[in-house]
Amino acid sequence: MSKIETPSGAGTSAPLGGAPSEPDLLRVENAGKSFGGAIALHNVSFSLRIGRALGIIGENGAGKSTLMKILGGVYPAGSYEGDVYLRGEKVRFRNVQEARAAGVVLVPQELHIAPELSIAENMFAGALPSRGAFVDSETLELRAHTWLSFFGLELDPWLPASILSPSEQRLILIAGALSQEARVLILDEPTASLSDGEAQSLFAHVAKLRNKGIGVLFISHRLDDIAQVCDEVLVMRNGESVAFFPERNAPRGEIVQAMIGRGQDENVDRAPRDIGDKVALNVAALSVADPVDKSRIRVDKVSFDVRAGEIVGLFGLVGAGRTEILRTLFGTWPGGFEGTIEVDGAPYRPSTPRAAIRRRVAMLTEDRKQTGIFSGHSLMSNIDAAAPSQVSRYGFFDSSKDLDRALGIIKSLDVRARSASQSIETLSGGNQQKVLLGRWLATNPHVLLLDEPTAGVDVGAREEIYLQIEELARAGCAVLLVSSDLDEIMRMSDRTLVMYKGRITATIQGRPTRHALMTAATGGQ
Ligand SMILES: Nc1ncnc2c1ncn2[C@@H]1O[C@H](COP(=O)(O)OP(=O)(O)OP(=O)(O)O)[C@@H](O)[C@H]1O
Ligand SMILES: [Mg+2]
Repeated sequence: MSKIETPSGAGTSAPLGGAPSEPDLLRVENAGKSFGGAIALHNVSFSLRIGRALGIIGENGAGKSTLMKILGGVYPAGSYEGDVYLRGEKVRFRNVQEARAAGVVLVPQELHIAPELSIAENMFAGALPSRGAFVDSETLELRAHTWLSFFGLELDPWLPASILSPSEQRLILIAGALSQEARVLILDEPTASLSDGEAQSLFAHVAKLRNKGIGVLFISHRLDDIAQVCDEVLVMRNGESVAFFPERNAPRGEIVQAMIGRGQDENVDRAPRDIGDKVALNVAALSVADPVDKSRIRVDKVSFDVRAGEIVGLFGLVGAGRTEILRTLFGTWPGGFEGTIEVDGAPYRPSTPRAAIRRRVAMLTEDRKQTGIFSGHSLMSNIDAAAPSQVSRYGFFDSSKDLDRALGIIKSLDVRARSASQSIETLSGGNQQKVLLGRWLATNPHVLLLDEPTAGVDVGAREEIYLQIEELARAGCAVLLVSSDLDEIMRMSDRTLVMYKGRITATIQGRPTRHALMTAATGGQ
């Protein structure tokens, strides 16, 4: 180990693990950042030791991603306050490439995929193997194959990344990052929209990297993840660090308490819901083809129905075909489909979202960036679309009553924003999600398609979202819920369909158990 003097005042407390003279792998001192006049991060200090995983947890908008972007070079030196030390040496990254070169690899929360580039190029963007001045495509292909199969993805690395589902995008970016020579690996919400299987592969690999001495910063809203991966936990609130738990398996109640400043509401009253006999959505022998390789069937003769007032969970591993079904139902799947669909008892052949919305079918997509938010527009116009001129443009809202309802929902979902004119991208990831959900909930849909509705949403706000969805169901809406989060499926589903490789392999009536879900999702009986 190289012995570098710790900077004065920094790292003076001896680390518990390594030799006392050894500087921390990473040390952050008094980090701060403001946007306009708003403080997103204030005076945050922490250190990460060699081979350790530090969990960072906090409500939506607490400042976690802002902090990670400082460390990863997204926000260049000079645009933030405070100092960053790598192995005791002060670093001032001007961009992501410099951070990577120094061994700080960030997998950001919001995915940045170049859809026109190949999967392989996206995986290793910025670190493509080269032979002379050219990209060494043989090595690239080999590496891509190795790392794709790490997550069990059977994908041709030369296909354009545009064919990937958001979860697949996340997996390939994580796989690409894992393949790099990192000293510090930063994972910002890596498991959002990943199912247990993928998450477990990731965790096992993270453990291996730690044994090699790599330090990991791990952000997640799933407390289970934190407990499995992290040796210690830093809790942030309102841009500041408010608590530090130096142990594995810190008591969850205390973590949540520190996070939200109050205890978690334990026993939520679940008012009973009447599920009638009226079928709101009927799908018969639905087959969905791959948009590129048309002979490849992504969904194979799937049949099911959802009754008015019913919440049906659709569970499965990434690639099982769930998103394909949802996108077909909403008219956004780029490939073809066969089979019959009925909404409210009448034939339905969705071709565009506009047509879907006209039939009162709404969809919250997992893919905020590409199909969810209206980039460049304010928070207001993202939920709004209510002004008459906007209705024809976006076609979402019927009346200003809907807008009022949207605003009400957004208030009750506690969207953290400075003002309604704030541009939507400048909201934290979880807060964007709340805005999008609020928008759909307000349109009184008859069929609501939800794809990972709480991905990236903090535990406090999650329950509120569940209550809103249940209220909608109580009003007679049929809800089809795709989620990779076992707890979410167990909390919400009246009935659960489990998919495996394009087929429904199990239907579980009532509240499913973890065991039943996982068995069916992995192809077991
Ligand atoms: N580019 C930006 N311009 C203005 N404000 C911003 C910008 N990026 C982030 N913010 C604000 O900074 C605060 C912290 O956001 P950040 O994304 O760091 O939160 P987070 O803890 O990662 O939340 P989440 O759990 O929802 O991902 C939020 O209030 C957010 O609105
Ligand atoms: Mg974030």
